Amino acid sequence: MVSLELRELGASYGGREVLSGISTPRLEGGQVVSLLGPNGAGKSTLFRRIFGILKGAGEVRVEGAQSARPIAYMPQDDGTRPALSVYEAVLLARMQGRRLQVSVEDHSEVDRVIELLDMGPLRGRPVGDLSGGQRQIVSVAQALVQRPQIVLMDEPTSALDLSRQIGLQTLMRGLAREQGLLVMIAQHDLGHALRFTDACLVIAEGGLAACGPTGEVITPELLRDIFEVEARVECCSKGIPQLMVDRHARHS
Ligand SMILES: Nc1ncnc2c1ncn2[C@@H]1O[C@H](COP(=O)(O)OP(=O)(O)O)[C@@H](O)[C@H]1O
Ligand SMILES: [Mg+2]
Repeated sequence: MVSLELRELGASYGGREVLSGISTPRLEGGQVVSLLGPNGAGKSTLFRRIFGILKGAGEVRVEGAQSARPIAYMPQDDGTRPALSVYEAVLLARMQGRRLQVSVEDHSEVDRVIELLDMGPLRGRPVGDLSGGQRQIVSVAQALVQRPQIVLMDEPTSALDLSRQIGLQTLMRGLAREQGLLVMIAQHDLGHALRFTDACLVIAEGGLAACGPTGEVITPELLRDIFEVEARVECCSKGIPQLMVDRHARHS
């Protein structure tokens, strides 16, 4: 099983330190981990640092990797060229880091992922013509088509309708359980985090504010101190934990 551990990780931009001293226990495959924190806390930066496109202090330890590229990263803003069709965009992501010699297996992987994400009707459309939510699903496909063992997803549901939000969270949880993937999702929806993710990392003020099972970490105190809302977690009549927000912690 793959695992990821962060040791004293730091990151800076042009000499300005944004993150420091981020250490985690070993995060095992088979689970979904939320990355939480206010705007500008450093969630995207942490993903870039883990993925290796941003250098910095500390160490990212991956164990149990079955390939040279076990991690896939879905950035918050996709940089896909708008003229590419959905199929081409996903195929190009599949070929990342490899010689551009496309095999039958590569084509069938693209087909599989397009099918998995219900994108069949979009496959020939230029990416630039799609809605924001449709493009976001293309970015998910670009990550999954690489058959990663660890997937870093930066706000993957921020532009999706409710059905697709729930669908994607459910799908990723299923992939984690069935294929042993470690899925990390940066997101602002704490309700989704509570409902769909096993553990969470909370970052604030350049460091790790909390780390542990999601239901234990998201408390009224943390919601007030880090997210500045007076809120509680209550189980609904179906036993699903729900976030109830009473008010802003400072503005009434
Ligand atoms: N490319 C960049 N160059 C300089 N500063 C950046 C860059 N990207 C992000 N930052 C800064 O780093 C901090 C963390 O940003 P980010 O990781 O994007 O936060 P989050 O994803 O949690 O909203 C912010 O203060 C932001 O302004
Ligand atoms: Mg971000």
